[in-house]
Amino acid sequence: MPAYAVIGGQWGDEGKGKVIDYLAGNVDYVVRYAGGNNAGHPVVNEQGTFQLHLVPSGICWPDVRGIIGNGVVVNPDVLRGELDMLSDRGIDTARLYVSERAHVIMPYHILLDNLEEEARGSGAIGTTGQGVGPAYMDKTGRMGIRIGDLLDSSTLESKLKRTLEFKNALITKIYNKNPLSMEDILGKWREWGQWLRPHVQSTEKLIQDILAGNQRILLEGAQGTLLDLDHGSYPYVTSSNTIASAAATGSGQGVKSINYVLGITKAYTTRVGEGPFPSEQDNDVGNELGEKGHEFGTVTGRKRRCGWFDAVLVRHAIEVSGIDGMALTKLDVLDGFEKINICTAYELDGKKIDYFPSALQDQKKVKPIYKRLDGWLQNTKGIRRWKDLPPNAKKYVNFIKKYFF
Ligand code: IMP
Repeated sequence: MPAYAVIGGQWGDEGKGKVIDYLAGNVDYVVRYAGGNNAGHPVVNEQGTFQLHLVPSGICWPDVRGIIGNGVVVNPDVLRGELDMLSDRGIDTARLYVSERAHVIMPYHILLDNLEEEARGSGAIGTTGQGVGPAYMDKTGRMGIRIGDLLDSSTLESKLKRTLEFKNALITKIYNKNPLSMEDILGKWREWGQWLRPHVQSTEKLIQDILAGNQRILLEGAQGTLLDLDHGSYPYVTSSNTIASAAATGSGQGVKSINYVLGITKAYTTRVGEGPFPSEQDNDVGNELGEKGHEFGTVTGRKRRCGWFDAVLVRHAIEVSGIDGMALTKLDVLDGFEKINICTAYELDGKKIDYFPSALQDQKKVKPIYKRLDGWLQNTKGIRRWKDLPPNAKKYVNFIKKYFF
């Protein structure tokens, strides 16, 4: 049976958690494949509101199992907090499996993430400070600690010793801070290994069995396409690939088993952290979008930057992920606007372009070219059927649809 992927089409925070939780009722497994607890997926259902950062959205459904795939970086303390919170609220967490190949966010990653940001000064990326970048750096630098390592006490000390010596040299000699204690980290490591053990699996093998057994998998994207390490607004991106092909790599299945890619975008655009944002509205429009849309980061609480829907960016997302269909969220946030803009192209050095340039200096320079549509000035909150939407809201959605498909 096939797998389905749900991908963010903008800079994250598109409402993936909500859509995944809704769709999860029709699948057997939900799999996170990239990122870490830099993601925040709020899920609102009959049982209340759940702030999930690592556990796949969908775990609230009694028959759905969750997998944290090999492509994720895991902070075990955060994972434990989330599992305890879910257990306290009556959700069976034994249905959560963690890949033995997933990398661990160690205490020195969190410290270094924050020290590196501080050192970047005005060039700071605005990371979430959760150690995600440094953990992926160690993965590609082949000095990472994997979940499977936490279970093997025989190699534990020697693995940590070498790495910690190197990290402490950075912390003390480059950043002039106090070194981290080997004993403290070893203590954490032993504790993590103990409680994690029942959850740890060869999840790639598990996924092959699920596919062969005619069960359905939903692949849960984290962050969004514009934060993708290769295809996003580099260097103002996260440290992993967020696009659909990464769902195969980060879970351990062939790309052909992904049968459908659903993109999620807001009806406008937001961004948290630094970096170019062509359709940003740093004015009353942006403030109104932010207030009505409750645009504050779920991990950091930071105010999100807001702007008009940027169709050029979303088309880029559709292309690099091979998106088959889209869900548009938070349309009701636009209810009070008399006129609504959609960015349909850019002007770069006096020329019209219809793509997102790769060079940072060009991304900063492009000026949005807008199509101006009439607003609908009616409350659309709670509308469930297409036919009940005001005509101008239908026009807005149809304009976006025609631009892409
Ligand atoms: P990092 O992933 O913490 O290294 O942060 C790198 C960039 O990605 C920063 O601009 C963050 O604000 C942004 N970012 C990371 N995760 C998310 C997310 O889940 N939603 C929105 N932005 C995110």
